[in-house]
Amino acid sequence: MVVETTRRSSSGTARIAWITGASSGIGRALAVALAQAGWEVAVSARNREELLALEDVVPSNIFAYPVDVTNAAAVARTFRLIEDGLGPLDLAVFCAGTYARDGVRDFDVARFSSIVHLNLLGTVYCLEAAMAQMRARGRGHIAVVSSTAGLVGLPGAAAYGASKAALIAMCEALYPDLAAHGIDLSLINPGFVDTPLTQKNDFPMPFLVTAEKAAATILRGLEARRYEIIFPWQMALAMKALRLMPARLRFALTRRMLRD
Ligand SMILES: NC(=O)c1ccc[n+]([C@@H]2O[C@H](COP(=O)([O-])OP(=O)(O)OC[C@H]3O[C@@H](n4cnc5c(N)ncnc54)[C@H](OP(=O)(O)O)[C@@H]3O)[C@@H](O)[C@H]2O)c1
Repeated sequence: MVVETTRRSSSGTARIAWITGASSGIGRALAVALAQAGWEVAVSARNREELLALEDVVPSNIFAYPVDVTNAAAVARTFRLIEDGLGPLDLAVFCAGTYARDGVRDFDVARFSSIVHLNLLGTVYCLEAAMAQMRARGRGHIAVVSSTAGLVGLPGAAAYGASKAALIAMCEALYPDLAAHGIDLSLINPGFVDTPLTQKNDFPMPFLVTAEKAAATILRGLEARRYEIIFPWQMALAMKALRLMPARLRFALTRRMLRD
């Protein structure tokens, strides 16, 4: 049942998580992994039917809270519904996001703005809601899903890379401050993961992993309270090496990603 009223968590003892972008892909797989590990998981996205179907995957541990994260007021309202219904959050994972290829030939401000609005500001709206309550309690764990594409500017990902690089910078800025308030922060930087988002790509995706494998890696990193959860290691190595290279060498390599 979709939650518009107050709902009580079943056990009262389970750890409680909120995941956005949970109707498909990485967020969905992580919700299932957390629920199977005994967490009570509030799942958010716009597609209410998918969220209701997800409730049935681990009944009594997954709870649908549909919301569009680009609507700040709706995010604040949904956050209150979750805490009223399930209890104080132990963990919040902000995974909602999108990608669209762009470049010089089809540079488009409206598309750029909608990607930044969802990937960056959508995360910021969720962060504001969770951070305020966790700060008041002096505990909690927040995880932000960025991307290895936020580490280096790649042809075809101007808006996407900009939004993900901004998330990385934001997390670096907030980490010491959040720690001083007793709040853990994790930055999740996946390489290519096989999801509806990447299934539309028509280029080879090196070191592609399944959403289930990605979720298992993320879960281990979250349980260890690691700051940067980056995978697979081959992609992490390649992108960190690219970042350290002199610009001339980096562009010699990234130029190969240009397409007609
Ligand atoms: N797949 C990869 O290779 C990869 C690599 C690095 C990083 N990432 C990041 O991982 C995250 C998840 O990506 P994915 O690959 O799992 O993609 P996905 O399967 O397309 O999932 C995206 C999720 O975001 C939700 N979403 C989109 N717009 C929303 C909105 N306005 N409000 C609330 N939810 C919204 C979607 O649900 P609704 O449509 O129902 O709203 C869906 O649940 C994204 O942030 C992506 O950038 C993915």
